[in-house]
Amino acid sequence: MMSDTFYRLDTTSQTVVFRVRDNALPEAIYWGVRLADGDDLPALAASQQMDLSGGMLDKQLPLSVCPAQSAPFPGQPGLSLSDGNTRLYPTFCVNAVEESTTALSFDCRDNTLGISYRAQFRVKGDVLIARATISSDKAITCHWLAAPVLPAPQLSDEILDWHGTWLREYHRQSTPWSHGIRLREARTGRSGHEHPPIAAIPSRGATRTAGVVHALQFAWSGGHRFIAEELPDGRRQLQMGKAWDSEAVNHHFDSGELLLAVSDVGEAGIASAFQRYIRDQLVPWADPKRARPVHYNCWEAIYFEHSFDTLAQIAEQAAELGAERFVLDDGWFGQRDDDTSSLGDWFIDRRKWPDGLTPLIDKVQSLGMTFGLWVEPEMVNQNSALYRAHPEWLLGDPEQVTGRFQHVLDLALPAVRDYLFDALDALLNSHDIDYLKWDHNRLLPVVDARQTEGVYQLLSRLRHAHPRVEIESCASGGGRIDAGILAYTHRVWLSDSNDAIERLRMQHEAALFLPPAITGSHVGARTSHSSGRILPMPFRGWVAAQRHLGFEMDPRDLTHEEISVLKRITAWWKATRDWRMNGITIPLESCDEAVTAEIQLAADGQRFVLFCGIGQTPNQSLPRPQMLAGLVPEARYRLQLINPEDKPPQSRGQPALLAGPLELSGRMLMTAGLQLPVSWPATMWVIEGERIA
Ligand code: GLA
Repeated sequence: MMSDTFYRLDTTSQTVVFRVRDNALPEAIYWGVRLADGDDLPALAASQQMDLSGGMLDKQLPLSVCPAQSAPFPGQPGLSLSDGNTRLYPTFCVNAVEESTTALSFDCRDNTLGISYRAQFRVKGDVLIARATISSDKAITCHWLAAPVLPAPQLSDEILDWHGTWLREYHRQSTPWSHGIRLREARTGRSGHEHPPIAAIPSRGATRTAGVVHALQFAWSGGHRFIAEELPDGRRQLQMGKAWDSEAVNHHFDSGELLLAVSDVGEAGIASAFQRYIRDQLVPWADPKRARPVHYNCWEAIYFEHSFDTLAQIAEQAAELGAERFVLDDGWFGQRDDDTSSLGDWFIDRRKWPDGLTPLIDKVQSLGMTFGLWVEPEMVNQNSALYRAHPEWLLGDPEQVTGRFQHVLDLALPAVRDYLFDALDALLNSHDIDYLKWDHNRLLPVVDARQTEGVYQLLSRLRHAHPRVEIESCASGGGRIDAGILAYTHRVWLSDSNDAIERLRMQHEAALFLPPAITGSHVGARTSHSSGRILPMPFRGWVAAQRHLGFEMDPRDLTHEEISVLKRITAWWKATRDWRMNGITIPLESCDEAVTAEIQLAADGQRFVLFCGIGQTPNQSLPRPQMLAGLVPEARYRLQLINPEDKPPQSRGQPALLAGPLELSGRMLMTAGLQLPVSWPATMWVIEGERIA
């Protein structure tokens, strides 16, 4: 007689149900949209019992939270251990279960091998967080440990994940489910442009705003693996875990945290769950009420050519535009005249700054801005005092191929972490700095989890010593954006591309996993430094205004017209930032290929702004309507296009939006949508909405 015990854990929109059979490892028999309270779990389990057929074992092996190696499970195992040259195949039994309405954990043990496995689940808002740990009596090698494994939905034809490169982050790709595995593996030592640790499984017919979607993001900044597998019997499993080098011999291993969301309102529900969790629970705000300050960053204005007089002039103009934080980027330390030297020498270059940084900080503060500074602590150039003093601090072989002429410091070494802590702590103690842009501009020579643990330790120590200093995670743009680093940082630099056409698309995709409040977006130079494209100021300004706004051009090059447009957009940004940055952004489905649209809704549902970005010439002569989402169907809204001046001369009809405010029900807006004016490519329509009944 089988003995089955059932456990369930719910967020507002998802439920996971586990069965423990005969004390064996728990098996998620359901992961999907929220079940009703009191639903009959044994009946659910019975309904899911599969038949048997020929060509298979006489019993179906469970797809447990850690698919076993001990029996010939017909798919990827969730764990791979060895002791020297001997492979270990533990058989875990459940020893104890801890259960509450917001947490569930299973303690499992193989007494013969002396190895324990623990699967933990926590509810955080609408996100479920899963983590697995291994503890062994003797030191063993762990080759693979997946976070607790869940079944993927059956009514799904595709696996969505995202890839990218420098300047081209967050590209969506779809792979059809097929027999076998889809494996994505980040082996560059950081979460990476290439394989950001995120994925979604849309059920058939799901869109951005309708249908069932399951999604995952892995809270880890180092190497990782994602496996989506269809087994021969048709079952599907999802695994995520850290990629680490097999020489990691230890008593304890931790899979890292996997964040899970399920939505029955399309990707919108995923965006809402993840945006809220990251912004409201994960990011370590010193003061969550502090308005996000408008940035000015000098990198694309002056690069390495620092001079007080130039920067003081730039600061004056940046403040005039509306900047509230001034960031001194790369080039202030060591003898850093280009990117071939000085990383590691975190002391002020007295050739460029004879009186130190204080005069610039004073100037910036006298203009009403705070001061931020660029650093890249994990790196070292061979041409540096640090390398000459400590060649042994390098990670990997000294003869390895460099990346941007630099090497990586071994953050697993306490002496390296102490050196970096002392250098940064001294800088922060002796200067009024409220923000660090923390860069990471090369791929690691080895995939080593200890490097990521080392940077977390360093960040944690610095945050503890300087809790009011905000930190931005940058890695040649978006090379280290993940829910691991965001436990220590407050902003991400989505991309080194300030080209607003590229940004529009990237921002649209990234909003599924990241809140706008932490997503930096800057108005770049008229001619984009990364694409050579010339785009009009209104478009550049509005695209940056969708996220955490900043400027990165040389403001001395702006025309009067550009200044006035940018001032207006910045003033609008400040006037709306509190409710927009604390609301929810839903990337919308568009029936017009030329349009990339999103709605930003206030948390109380009383206000919204609809951004419709036109990135290319439409396929047809007149625009197709834009449908909204997230509104109350029965409510009435007043809508107003706030930038009708951006219409081109070809627009000669009378769409109601151009004429003035419109009043419509939520249902009409979400089904019939809105007709937009004719537009040139590189136009952003900005439509404000207010609930009136
Ligand atoms: C990286 C960053 C840029 C800038 C430079 C400075 O490329 O992504 O924004 O800070 O480094 O060297």
